[in-house]
Amino acid sequence: EKEGYEHFMIKEIHEQPKGVSETLLRRLDKEEKVTLDGIKLTKEDLDNINKVYIVACGTAYHAGLVGRYAIEKFAKIPVEVDVASEFRYRDPFVDDKTLFIAISQSGETLDTLAALREAKRKGARVLSVVNVVGSSVARESDDVFYTWAGPEIAVASTKAYTTQLVAMYLVALHMASVKGTITEEQYKEKVNELKTMPDKIQKILDNQTKIQHLADGQFNNEKVFFMGRGLDVHVAHEGSLKLKEISYINSFAIAAGELKHGTIALIEDGTLVVALATQDHLYDKMLSNIQEVRARGAFVVGVAKEGNKEIEKTADVVLYIPDTLDQLTPILSVIPLQLLSYYIAVARGCDVDKPKNLAKSVTVE
Ligand code: F6R
Repeated sequence: EKEGYEHFMIKEIHEQPKGVSETLLRRLDKEEKVTLDGIKLTKEDLDNINKVYIVACGTAYHAGLVGRYAIEKFAKIPVEVDVASEFRYRDPFVDDKTLFIAISQSGETLDTLAALREAKRKGARVLSVVNVVGSSVARESDDVFYTWAGPEIAVASTKAYTTQLVAMYLVALHMASVKGTITEEQYKEKVNELKTMPDKIQKILDNQTKIQHLADGQFNNEKVFFMGRGLDVHVAHEGSLKLKEISYINSFAIAAGELKHGTIALIEDGTLVVALATQDHLYDKMLSNIQEVRARGAFVVGVAKEGNKEIEKTADVVLYIPDTLDQLTPILSVIPLQLLSYYIAVARGCDVDKPKNLAKSVTVE
């Protein structure tokens, strides 16, 4: 079943061009408009919504953070994102003007399901983004947007995440086009760029040697920091989760602007810092943050868009992603982080597909 791959995780990492492309193409019609088929998000529906709540756990929650950015940016609707285990116990402001979006690969995560039921009880419309067809979350939702990742076996989620991102971008673009908060031209630009993602992911997958080499370790791996600004912070959180769950390295993610407010105290000689710098308007700020940690001895791995070479002067190693719109970078920038985690875990001899203490789907509290 692993089709020649050593682990399911690396197989699934390689299945991302296909999963992203399937998720995308099934939702674009001949005119390249997003079609949500049965999903009810008409002008009337959207006029009746004054708030979106996105709720999920773990990696799916990280996809929700990017979803918030996309919906706020394109469709101009205020969005809150919460982890399901918090949402369900905190009496959130939800009513019949709320659109509740649950994101779940398995569709069986207990906290997500309970949060969904709570939102429904309060009158919200429920749309879910789910990978497993006919799962509990899917069955209990008003509408379902299926991701087409295919079965995900490895405990660490990879292809589910990138397909969830695509789903959230499509939902956001559809809402924006229905509401008229985005021009036809901007809409086309983003849809066309989304269509280039499978090839761009493939390009990263075809150039892994640098990452494999890195993973063989020139750094002190007692702890690892991931940092970024803007959209990159959300990807930093996902990269950090991936690393800790399969390699058991103590890893954290922070907004780079928060460094000076505490975390920089922990930087020592050889501490690995993964610094995402894919956002043009925040690039210079990230370069300063990289300098700050390097001055304290950190070994910095930068992630930047091809062509932004200035980072080579400050970071020790730079992993490049193909150029794309800043708003869509998470679909690409997470790939080198998945690979890095995978190869570090392999180098440490960890059981990559079945990390200790973790289950693929968390159906208990
Ligand atoms: C991390 C991971 C978990 C899941 C989380 C939610 O790699 O796999 O954090 O993302 O347990 O699971 P689903 O999406 O099935 O609700």
